[in-house]
Amino acid sequence: MDKLIINGGTVLKGEVSISGAKNAVLPMLCASVMATDTCVTLNNIPHLHDVTTTVRLLRQMGVSVTLDDNMNIELDPSTIKNFHAPYDLVKTMRSSILVLGPLLARFGSAVVSLPGGCAIGTRPVEMHLDALSKMGVTFDIQNGYISANCSRLIGCEISFPKTTVTGTENILMASTLAEGKTVITNAAREPEVVDLANFLNEMGAEITGHGTDVIEVKGVKSLRGVSYSALPDRIETGTFLVAAAITGGEITIKNTISNHVAIIIEKLRQSGAIIDSTDSSITLNMQGKRPKAVNIETGAYPLFPTDMQAQLTALNTIASGTSIIKENIFENRFMHIQEMSRMGAEIKLEQNCAIISGKDELVGASVMATDLRASASLILAGLVAKGTTEIERIYHIDRGYDCIEEKLQQLGADIHRMPM
Ligand code: EPU
Repeated sequence: MDKLIINGGTVLKGEVSISGAKNAVLPMLCASVMATDTCVTLNNIPHLHDVTTTVRLLRQMGVSVTLDDNMNIELDPSTIKNFHAPYDLVKTMRSSILVLGPLLARFGSAVVSLPGGCAIGTRPVEMHLDALSKMGVTFDIQNGYISANCSRLIGCEISFPKTTVTGTENILMASTLAEGKTVITNAAREPEVVDLANFLNEMGAEITGHGTDVIEVKGVKSLRGVSYSALPDRIETGTFLVAAAITGGEITIKNTISNHVAIIIEKLRQSGAIIDSTDSSITLNMQGKRPKAVNIETGAYPLFPTDMQAQLTALNTIASGTSIIKENIFENRFMHIQEMSRMGAEIKLEQNCAIISGKDELVGASVMATDLRASASLILAGLVAKGTTEIERIYHIDRGYDCIEEKLQQLGADIHRMPM
């Protein structure tokens, strides 16, 4: 397994361009099975393991997938021959559950492995299943597999008891081809949900209200293939902003949507960063200063994203002052803390709160990545730590960050990958 080696202490400077959003691209790839007659072409696709896994999943169902050198993906679902998402793929990527809604809507049948837990929590999918059964799907759960069947889905009112991103996406996709109208209340408002709805509308769906917590979908008879570019990744944007802030640097981020990271910008301003932005670029200047501690509480969009919690934890470990980070979305998303403690961070965990006493410095150590965002936070800690940090199990980072070490090198970081 490859390792990342970071010699800390470089102040990041320069320009970096953001890739397409993982969490927008994954549901779009799954939605492509609903197109009839014409292919779907997705552009601005990030080079990520989760994209490769989704492509493998679609290919083994028989979907014809063609990738060009620029990572534009053409998907032809007319060759699909089975509706099966096997355990060996689903266990590595829980978002595989996103094939369920599209397969049921288009073919009335799907067999999808139950995703099981993952490093950040139990992550159940009962809200997806309850909503689909309200639309007329019958489920048989045996040997770890969900076998789902329906005739044409029936539009209805779906009220999620708790906001769920992929749950909203699954029902959004399913309801595009349902008979009649579906109203989703307490829908997720994340930009990736909005981008998926825009993509589906281009395919011929009739969706309104996306971006609010009530989404209405008038079912249509069929969807067509389109060519679409996914929006830029707001979590990658946030991660690079923190990379600049933690090292006291000055960077400009291009090809982003500054509106989507408003809460992250606000927190980084509180920590002392000077930030200017246009609609599509953000410049952060820390003027060589040590960040000030900032409190964070995670929540559904537009509140502070759980996917940026670990990165802000890293920032707070070297900030002046004490901070409290409260994680409200996932019950076990603090695995990075033990690793950061090995680098000299002072963090106490009390239920879903991390209490961080900022230290003058971190010291490089061998650490282990436990999940995608935890890996990113360890890279950030390594960038500012004194000496060398070695990060193991970095396959996690390759799931969700496009060319992260190359982009950091471009900003002056001393980081390289050591193949094992
Ligand atoms: N939940 C349930 N039952 C369900 C579904 C969710 O109890 O049926 C709970 C979850 O356990 C969690 C909360 O609801 O406590 C919210 O989970 P949600 O369903 O919104 O998460 P998700 O859809 O599985 C997506 C992203 C995650 C991101 C979360 C929260 C994708 C592919 N994944 O997951 O991204 O953290 O929303 O914003 O969109 C990542 O990119 O690193 C990542 C983990």
